[in-house]
This record gives sequence, structure tokens and C-alpha cells, in this order.
Amino acid sequence: MKKLLVVSLLLVLSLVAFSRVTITMTAGAVGTELNVLYEQLDKFMRANPDIKVSVMPMPNSSTERHDLYVTYLASGEKEPTVLMLDVIWPAEFAPYLEDVTADKDYFELDKFIPGTVKSGTVNGKIVAVPWFTDAGILYYRKDLLDKYGFKNPPKTWDELVKMAQTITAKEKNMYGFVWQGARYEGLVCDFMEFLISFGGDVIDDAGNVVVNSKAGVNALQFMVDLIYKTKVSPQAVTTYMEEEARRTFQNGQAVFMRNWPYAWALVNDPKESKIAGKVGVAPLPAGPAGRSAATLGGWMLGINKNATDEEKAAAKKLVKFLTSYDQQLYKAINASQNPTMMDVYKDPELKKVAPFMVDLYGMFVNAEPRPRTAKYSEISDTMQKYIHAALTQQTTPQKAMEDMAKELTQVLAGR
Ligand code: GLC
Repeated sequence: MKKLLVVSLLLVLSLVAFSRVTITMTAGAVGTELNVLYEQLDKFMRANPDIKVSVMPMPNSSTERHDLYVTYLASGEKEPTVLMLDVIWPAEFAPYLEDVTADKDYFELDKFIPGTVKSGTVNGKIVAVPWFTDAGILYYRKDLLDKYGFKNPPKTWDELVKMAQTITAKEKNMYGFVWQGARYEGLVCDFMEFLISFGGDVIDDAGNVVVNSKAGVNALQFMVDLIYKTKVSPQAVTTYMEEEARRTFQNGQAVFMRNWPYAWALVNDPKESKIAGKVGVAPLPAGPAGRSAATLGGWMLGINKNATDEEKAAAKKLVKFLTSYDQQLYKAINASQNPTMMDVYKDPELKKVAPFMVDLYGMFVNAEPRPRTAKYSEISDTMQKYIHAALTQQTTPQKAMEDMAKELTQVLAGR
């Protein structure tokens, strides 16, 4: 009798294994996001024993990830099944992504922040589901600002420079301000924030390149000065991506940091950080144009068009699970990545763990998108090249902006 039971159990198990569909998913690893994803996938696979999800970890640099995707997708492969997509990519990758417009209700997209849904909509078709949203924010050392009599975080870039200079003149081994200055996508994000707060822009509503303005040159000059003149930023920022800035800040080596929300979970974790509990978050300072600007970032989930029907069905279940209320809340609490579903911001749990997400909700919703075009990656490469050349003093801000504008015009005209 016992033997029979064991045999039938084995039979059932092998049938499940036999009918199990395996899908692959790409994932990033900034901060705690990869560990949090593994926890979520365990839960998903327990609830869906007929689906196996295998993770393909990707480089942290959005630019490097983009180039890998170009190789995967252009080759017509059916893998990865589910792609983690930066908000700037849907227009470019739309031809390779499954159209999920008909599944709008299944994914409950009417509950999402409308701007995030817009990022995944190309020519009226939804090709990606918003997973988490991002905006640039200012992290500051509350304890040090208090110690030197600064009651509030800086409201303007000039104030930030003054506070940083005052504090680093007295504190040993401290930088004033760390940010993302390496030659990759993150540099464009940081530059846009300076540019817009100085009153400039990259492309106007009519599609003209307007980056080479007085405001544009001044913004880039200000960034260069942070390194060589006001000296509140170390020269090393020209090699920093998000994680380098985060590590420097959480080691107690900087007064201010520009980063995305994910850093919050780690800088406040006493096991990880020397400054847990001493950190405040504020909107980025305003520039001479009197306004502050945060670049809109974030990631979405898209499904590979070349996957089989069975794989696509499993992928949809996975996307639905990961973007559900409970999983967005879990991710927001454990990886501090901002929800895209509006109601999650009303959850008292979120307010307790990441109060800034709730307090700065309006800022997250109104963050500044990067140019929305299928040519975005070429635009970005051009911008990265000239901004970085100015930051490393290979050219002047004036010349960098002139050359950038010329090349951007060519890129938009199709060269
Ligand atoms: C973050 C943002 C993403 C941006 C990237 C740049 O991951 O969410 O949109 O492109 O940073 O480094």
C-alpha cells in the first residue's frame, strides 16, 4: 500500500515536472534588488509549480544592458522571455516586444501612475508594464547639517556648495557632494537635472535641438566647477555610477549625494552603513531658473515576442505577480524602489519605512522624462560623450555644448 502511494506520488511529481514551462527573466542588481527578486520568485514558483523562472543577472550600467539587449533581440532569440526595460527603451525595442494592450485589465493598468503607463505605450500599443518608478533625489547628512547650524537641506545649488564647503573644511576625509559622472546613461540623468534647473532643455516640443543655450553652457560649467573650482566633488565622480556614489556616502565620506530611491534601504541599514539613521532626503536643489528638476527613471517588464505561446502565458502571470499591489509594496519596503501603482503610496507600511516616497509623491509623478524617441540611445551616447569630455577637461563646456548640439541635430535628421 505504502509502495503504491510512493509510486503514484512520484508519478504525479514527474508529470508536474514534465509539464513545467521554464522562462527566463533579466534582472539588475543595484542595492538589494536582486535578493529581493529571488525572494519574490520563490514565492511565485511555490504558487505556480508549473512555471520555473530562471534569472539572467545583467550589468548594472543601463548602457551596457541596452547593448546586450540589442544583441539578444536582433538575433531573433526567444530568450530572455521577460525583459526588465529601462523607461527610455520601449520606443526602440517595441518591434521585439509582445503587444499586451488587450491585457490592460488583467494587469490593472488603470491603477498605475498614468505617466508610467505612457512610458510603456508606443504608437498606442502597450508593450511594457511599469514595475517601479524612479526620480533623482538629494540625500543629505542630517547630523552634519545640524552640527553646523543648517536647519534645512539646501534649496539651491549655490546653497549646497556653501554648505558642503563649510562642512568639509572642518570634517576630516569628507567629500561635499557625490553623484554619477561616469560615461553612461546615469550621466545623462544627472546632467538633465542641472540643465533643466538652470532653465535649459535638450529638445523642444517641436523637436528642435535646444541644448546649446546660455543656460545649457552654465549648467555644464557648474558641473565642471563642482570638480575643479568649488571642489565640492572629487575628481573620482567622473568614474562613478550609482553604486560607487552610494558606497562612498554610506561609508560616511560625503555630506550630499544625488541618487535614486533604492539607496535608502542600504544607507539606513545598520549592518551595511556607517550612517544609518543620520540621513535625510529632499528634492534636488533649484538652479538659477528658480526650479528644481528630477529626471524620471524606472523600469518596466516586457515580454519577448519570439517566445512560444506557452512561455508568453507564463510570462504574463509572472509580470502580473511582480507588479501586483502586494509585490510592489514588498519591493518598496525591502529594495526601496518606488511603486508604480498609486494606491500603494497610501499604505501605512510604506509611510513607516520610506516616508520620503509618500512625502515626495508629487515630485515622483512630475519627474522630467528624457526625450521619447526610438533614437534615444544614439541621443544619449552623443550626450554622454560631450558631457564627459567637459567633465574630464578635454574640452570646454562652451565647445562641448556646440558640438553636442550639432551631432544631436544630425542624429535626429538620420545623419
Ligand atoms: C536608474 C533609472 C533608469 C536610468 C538609470 C541610469 O536605474 O531607473 O531609468 O536610466 O538609473 O543609470
